[in-house]
Amino acid sequence: MNIPNHVAIILDGNGRWAKSKGMPRNYGHTMGAKNVEGVCRAAYDLGIRYLTFYAFSTENWNRPRAEVEAIMNLLESYLKNCQKIAKKNNMRVRVIGDLSHLDSKFQENIKALEESSAAYDGLCLTIAINYGSRDEMVRAMKKMTKDCMAGELGVEEINEEKFASYLDTAGIPDPDLLIRTSGEQRLSNYLLWQLAYSEFYFTDTPWPDFHEEELKKAVEAYSARDRRYGGLKEEEIHV
Ligand code: IPE
Ligand code: IPE
Ligand code: MG
Repeated sequence: MNIPNHVAIILDGNGRWAKSKGMPRNYGHTMGAKNVEGVCRAAYDLGIRYLTFYAFSTENWNRPRAEVEAIMNLLESYLKNCQKIAKKNNMRVRVIGDLSHLDSKFQENIKALEESSAAYDGLCLTIAINYGSRDEMVRAMKKMTKDCMAGELGVEEINEEKFASYLDTAGIPDPDLLIRTSGEQRLSNYLLWQLAYSEFYFTDTPWPDFHEEELKKAVEAYSARDRRYGGLKEEEIHV
């Protein structure tokens, strides 16, 4: 089987999942957060090296304050606990997004987690918090412009590789497979640059029910796809 090196996941449907059980939306977020560790383990066992989760978008601030607070608290406690999980599973953790809007204690914890797990060479887990792809590109452009004005970067040096090195995902290969749970078929401002040639897989299963078997199904579907990158395969050229 052809295993994707990097899988990006839009974990969606926590609220609807909870509602279907007669429970409040925040219960869905709690159970959704609990599901992350098992999927990380399953991914690594399958041979996936990079996993990138969309946890909170730049647009998610538009939700009711109590829900935003509940999600932020869950993320904070997940990442605190993650130091232990990273050590146990030899997992490197990175966080992408505009972190400057987060509580300063939260920012410090993220930095400590990234530093303490930097040398682990198992799964590379990336979590997107206050992440929006357009915001990421604008921040990258601002930084590039500043470097140009400071004489540290020449306009002629700017190419796709250089631009990518200014994004939050610098050093992380582009995703091979994007999975979105819970039936929606849109990107919601996720990794627009990085997903240029990725395969997309949509499933109706809501995130809290998305376990190892569901991940395997997505990888199997990916494995059967024919990726061409705009060119032709050797066997197609000679017919
Ligand atoms: C995904 O579940 C989690 C976040 C966006 C933080 P949702 O909260 O979007 O759940 P639905 O889509 O409303 O069911
Ligand atoms: C996308 O899900 C963001 C995350 C999963 C964090 P949403 O549920 O917020 O997206 P929309 O609003 O349905 O597009
Ligand atoms: Mg949603």
